[in-house]
Amino acid sequence: MPVRRGSIVQLVAIGVACGAGAALVALLIPWLPHAASEQAGRIDFVFWFVTAICIAIFSLVAAVILYSVVKFRAQPDEDADGPPIHGHTGLEIVWTAVPAALVTAISIVSAVVLAKNEHLPHASAATDPLKPLVVDVTAQQFAWSFKYPGYGGLTSATLKLPVDVPTKLRITSLDVNHSFWVPEFGQKLDAVPGSWNNLPVTPNREGTFPVICTELCGLGHALMRSRAEVMPRNEFVAWAKAQKKKLGGPAATSGKAVFSNNGCASCHTFKAAGATGKVGPDLDKLPQEAQRAGKPLEQFIRESIVNPNAYVEPGFPKNLMPGTFASLPKPQLDALVTFLAGGKK
Ligand code: CUA
Repeated sequence: MPVRRGSIVQLVAIGVACGAGAALVALLIPWLPHAASEQAGRIDFVFWFVTAICIAIFSLVAAVILYSVVKFRAQPDEDADGPPIHGHTGLEIVWTAVPAALVTAISIVSAVVLAKNEHLPHASAATDPLKPLVVDVTAQQFAWSFKYPGYGGLTSATLKLPVDVPTKLRITSLDVNHSFWVPEFGQKLDAVPGSWNNLPVTPNREGTFPVICTELCGLGHALMRSRAEVMPRNEFVAWAKAQKKKLGGPAATSGKAVFSNNGCASCHTFKAAGATGKVGPDLDKLPQEAQRAGKPLEQFIRESIVNPNAYVEPGFPKNLMPGTFASLPKPQLDALVTFLAGGKK
């Protein structure tokens, strides 16, 4: 059955129209966050590679279907069987071979991107402490903390990163499973108690991006957020040096610093720390709570930190406050208790 040239022109026209429509939907709607790491850039490439293939196949299929629906429609009074056609070997080979080739191409591109994204460039750490930078990411109900072993183990409640420096995030959890996600970095990785999971990230755009927990981990899950701040290299080094200097001084055991570095603010309200969390009891009302518990204020605060189930404020469930803070070093715990009791320290 010869195909008329007019039919081919019509088919192509329908295909181009469908493809243009699909391309507009793909391009005009911002489906992906604006990538801020080399890894996310590669993932975006895979996304667009697959999307382009999908649009091409969609245009072809839609053109044939629309053309057939209009052209070969049965007339209202027509009830004869269709012509007995036995298939077309050449056509079948083509429509098996082409998808096989496309799927193979997608696998190869994905495998290359995965391998590249999991690879952290090896540079001599001896000559440049920034290459690669190691950050220990610790998740706990319901906060993130970030520790920089290359800078005397200084800790921060926000993830500060120098731009264009390959970074190895070593992710772990103190209690239940959490999951680390910065949408602009393009990757997610579980935080599992007792194991260290490595996530290489090379941020390539300055800015502030959300750090989100994407594993349901308890009542405060939705509030378990922090920030990733990507800054120029020298700004990062200056920040790290300043923080490191503070580590040796009295600020290391400032109750306020302990409060913010351990993520207390994500669950509790406490004016002196500018905290407005609503998951746990309001810490501005600690004196009244101590009274209800029938204990002296400082003793009550210390006990509530190291043994949270000893007294549970009415209206809050048992086991909500993690017991992990019992492992705070004594000077930090003392400073935190004093700070919460209202003493400026
Ligand atoms: Cu941690 Cu959800």
